[in-house]
Amino acid sequence: MKILIFGSGGFIGSHLTISLIKENKYEVVGYDTDFSKLRKLCGNRHNFTFIKGDIRKNIKRIEKQIGNSDIVVDLIAYANPSIYISRPLEVVKLNLFDNLKIAEMCLKFRKHLIQFSSCEVYGMMNGARESFSEDNSKLVLGPIKNHRWIYSCAKQLLERVIHAYGLEKGFNYTIIRPFNFIGPEMDYILEKGDEGNPRVFPHFISALLFNRELKLVDGGHNYRTFTYIDDAVEAIKLIIRNINGVCNREIINIGTPNNEIKIRDLAILMVQIFEELTEKKANCNIVEISSKEFYGEGYEDCDRRIPDINKLLSLGWKPKYNLEQTLRLSMKYYFDKYMKRE
Ligand code: NAD
Ligand code: UGA
Repeated sequence: MKILIFGSGGFIGSHLTISLIKENKYEVVGYDTDFSKLRKLCGNRHNFTFIKGDIRKNIKRIEKQIGNSDIVVDLIAYANPSIYISRPLEVVKLNLFDNLKIAEMCLKFRKHLIQFSSCEVYGMMNGARESFSEDNSKLVLGPIKNHRWIYSCAKQLLERVIHAYGLEKGFNYTIIRPFNFIGPEMDYILEKGDEGNPRVFPHFISALLFNRELKLVDGGHNYRTFTYIDDAVEAIKLIIRNINGVCNREIINIGTPNNEIKIRDLAILMVQIFEELTEKKANCNIVEISSKEFYGEGYEDCDRRIPDINKLLSLGWKPKYNLEQTLRLSMKYYFDKYMKRE
């Protein structure tokens, strides 16, 4: 079984790739512009080939790879809210139009596509307390001037086109909606003096490691549910094993409903875990910042998003890691990596 993974060098892609090649049941081909995360982690393996390339270029090579594979996994996207604000056009071009080309090549060669979408497609049902279900929930976005939603909108339209190809052309696909996975090698770390704006977990880790501020956007009152990357990878592999059956033409949430926390409390908990794990006093402040100052004009947030995971539970998946274990394991990785250099 040959699996072609677009975005194999990214956070989810690198963990998934390593786990699949370790199983020794699959031949894995990774396609990405960046393989630094994989090079460090897995080295050379007989059942892994990586192709350094940009999906916006060399379409012939991409077609050839799709034609030669059994399953295609597409993880490529700009997946960081600061980019939705600073480069909305690039987000829609890559996340919708370039990914659609991959989907259409899969249709042409009759290959099953596993398309990564996002929990952001549910948008901002602010005030809602029920969990988001793939086949029942509304997908509500804010006004156009709040262009943060361009990511969600691009992902949603990609889902809708793929679904329509399923209806009209018999396309085989599975769409995955991840809910805030965290773990080792997520985005990038900001050392002293570095500029950048990764997602919340690497931001807070950077603050703890390099005595920067932990910034609470608009007070940090919104909630997220976090999933440890190993749990997420197990769920993805289960979906891969079931693509020809119950997972064909399905949209599936992956998340851990019980691992919910307010961002403000996440900051406090991470400081506590830092002090326990390192036996050092954290030398950083928790401060509040407006979303306008942090991201720029056009940001809007959802206050809460909890996944309905009944589809995954019926496949036999159960998350192993609670919030505290998820944070401890993820944080320990970074402390070992950066504090051992001292
Ligand atoms: P990531 O940014 O770590 O990975 C994306 C990868 O795509 C990167 O390795 C990047 O180099 C590659 N890439 C980007 N543009 C490319 C191009 N033009 N050609 C070739 N490669 C290119 O992101 P991630 O967190 O691993 O997310 C993977 C997917 O899952 C994305 O589609 C994202 O929207 C979705 N998702 C992730 C999460 C999460 O919790 N991490 C949540 C919701 C949705
Ligand atoms: C993310 C991204 O859109 C995607 O990666 C993905 O689709 C999805 O959500 C996901 O990971 O499931 P978001 O949850 O807003 O969006 O991502 P973060 O950047 O991690 O922010 C989480 C919350 O923390 C937001 O309320 C944000 O405003 C806040 N935040 C972020 C802070 O308070 N401080 C920071 O330093 C960074």
